[in-house]
Amino acid sequence: MTAAEAGAAAMDAARGGLGASAGGSGPGDPGGGAGGGAAPSPAGAPGPEAERVIEARDLTAAFGATTLFRHVSFDVRRGEVFVILGGSGCGKSTLLKLMIGLVPPAEGTVSILGTGVWSTEGAGRLALLKRIGVMWQQGALFGSQTLQENVELPLAEHTSLPPAARAEVARAKLGLVGLSEAANRLPSEVSGGMLKRAGIARALALDPPILFLDEPSAGLDPITSAGLDELIRDLARALGTTFVVVTHELASILAIGDRCIMLDKAAQGMIAEGDPRTLRDESTHPTVRAFFRREAA
Ligand SMILES: Nc1ncnc2c1ncn2[C@@H]1O[C@H](COP(=O)(O)OP(=O)(O)OP(=O)(O)O)[C@@H](O)[C@H]1O
Ligand SMILES: [Mg+2]
Repeated sequence: MTAAEAGAAAMDAARGGLGASAGGSGPGDPGGGAGGGAAPSPAGAPGPEAERVIEARDLTAAFGATTLFRHVSFDVRRGEVFVILGGSGCGKSTLLKLMIGLVPPAEGTVSILGTGVWSTEGAGRLALLKRIGVMWQQGALFGSQTLQENVELPLAEHTSLPPAARAEVARAKLGLVGLSEAANRLPSEVSGGMLKRAGIARALALDPPILFLDEPSAGLDPITSAGLDELIRDLARALGTTFVVVTHELASILAIGDRCIMLDKAAQGMIAEGDPRTLRDESTHPTVRAFFRREAA
């Protein structure tokens, strides 16, 4: 699929129900609390048979003499929202960097879409990195360029699309995140929540099958944050995009996470894996219980 076709497909998806009044999934009912009973996962969550798009095996992260975590292994399935959670400083952002090739693991391997992140070099690695989108904690947009120009940047860098097609794709991405009206504004002229959404639009520019988000709702008010959660869920369900989301916001975890892993500083490793709602209700691990029930550990 060319980027222009992808842009058209994105616009189709946007018309198909990603607009401001997303129906169906029930924005007022994150976490699927009331009905359900035995089926705690959010509607439409990919099942255990779904393809593994990320395979992390035996990952150990260390800075000098300090080991953050050891022997962390997990899979991420196509089309799910996979959450990395845990207290401040336990190594969530580091794990993300290790997965996308920014910080080398002390031990272990990661493969994304069948390609070893640390065992592949040169053109193969570049090709892999082009297939993932990343949104950093601060959004990191260029302040002197409009939102539209910011979203066009990866297209200018990585595709041979002519300017008119780039503009069209960028407009489609901004439409997906509900920012059509703000396309010509500078980052300083929009709110924090809009900046985060613009960051997601830019991360979506090249139609990556996998998107990594580091603390997307940090610093946002609860309502804006819930709107962003809804957007992530809608994109995952409508476009089939796989999301790896680093967060320690409990409301977000319960609202968007299909599955999660929990890291722990004291244990120097992973202490839980599974459906966050099940962990909240059933985990007997004291730290996991404390986290989900907001108790002091
Ligand atoms: N490049 C680095 N060199 C040395 N130490 C580092 C480096 N990057 C991170 N650390 C340390 O590793 C620890 C974990 O950092 P990390 O940013 O992964 O935590 P986190 O779980 O994302 O925390 P938060 O929830 O506060 O964002 C911290 O103590 C941090 O100071
Ligand atoms: Mg972090």
